[in-house]
Amino acid sequence: MKGIILAGGSGTRLYPITEGISKQLMPIYDKPMIFYPLTTLMLAGIRDILVITTETDQPGFKKLLGDGSKFGVNLEYIIQPSPDGLAQAFILGEDFIGDEACAMVLGDNIFYGNGLTKLLVSARENAEAGFATNFGFRVHDPERFGIMELDSENNIVSVEEKPAQPKSDFAVTGLYFYPAGVAEKAKQVRPSDRGELEITSLNDIYLQEGKLKGELLGSGFSWFDTGTFDSEMDAAVMIRAIETNQSRVVACPEQIAFERGWISCEQLAERAELLKKNSYGAFLKKTLEAAK
Ligand code: G1P
Repeated sequence: MKGIILAGGSGTRLYPITEGISKQLMPIYDKPMIFYPLTTLMLAGIRDILVITTETDQPGFKKLLGDGSKFGVNLEYIIQPSPDGLAQAFILGEDFIGDEACAMVLGDNIFYGNGLTKLLVSARENAEAGFATNFGFRVHDPERFGIMELDSENNIVSVEEKPAQPKSDFAVTGLYFYPAGVAEKAKQVRPSDRGELEITSLNDIYLQEGKLKGELLGSGFSWFDTGTFDSEMDAAVMIRAIETNQSRVVACPEQIAFERGWISCEQLAERAELLKKNSYGAFLKKTLEAAK
């Protein structure tokens, strides 16, 4: 199973913050935003990950994440020359994906909640068995998102991109699992009125084939699409509260990799030493000591 983090876009909604730096390199409390989607893929057990960025921002991502070995994953990078829609990621990533199933997470989407790993693993298994999965989350401003309409058994009956008259309050979050062959399907998508290859159109292809599953993230979950000043701050405040309260670090790639045996004690110790001046580093040290 492969994974893609889509971290392109010019971030104009966050200007002037993002005039000089990519949004996904900015902090959400104590770590760069991209750590959150990265760890979401890692929790699904995905270790081969493609990071798609703009050309100007790519060096910053490479400096931060490198080849992924410090997090026990393999990272590759490609450029999205222009933001022509989310579904374009699969066409750009066709060679990387090969003949495997593939998940994609948007670089500004944060998922948190008890039982998330189980849902991710089950979406992964469904993708490997030929089914796509979309994750729904109830929102108060549905006209801003892709929306899934559900029947009484929570099966998806329609998907629409930013509808003026939404048929439900369930946003399609920026985390998608697809079976092998997704690049071919993405090539069937025609540009929308706003000129983009919409992820919603790709999801609709799977829906029409009876191959789209919907998974609702209920009240035990938090989801943030951190594209505005307020949602960034809201996410940061929540992460800080959880971390302070539970004295741990949320979305910590080193810890997830270590617990899964993807990095060694020595590798974790090296990271703990490098980060020793703050609470993140202290957490790495604690994680290491607990394993001894
Ligand atoms: C994109 C998708 C939309 C989805 C959202 C989730 O919207 O087009 O379907 O609900 O991500 O974050 P954008 O944030 O690009 O406007």
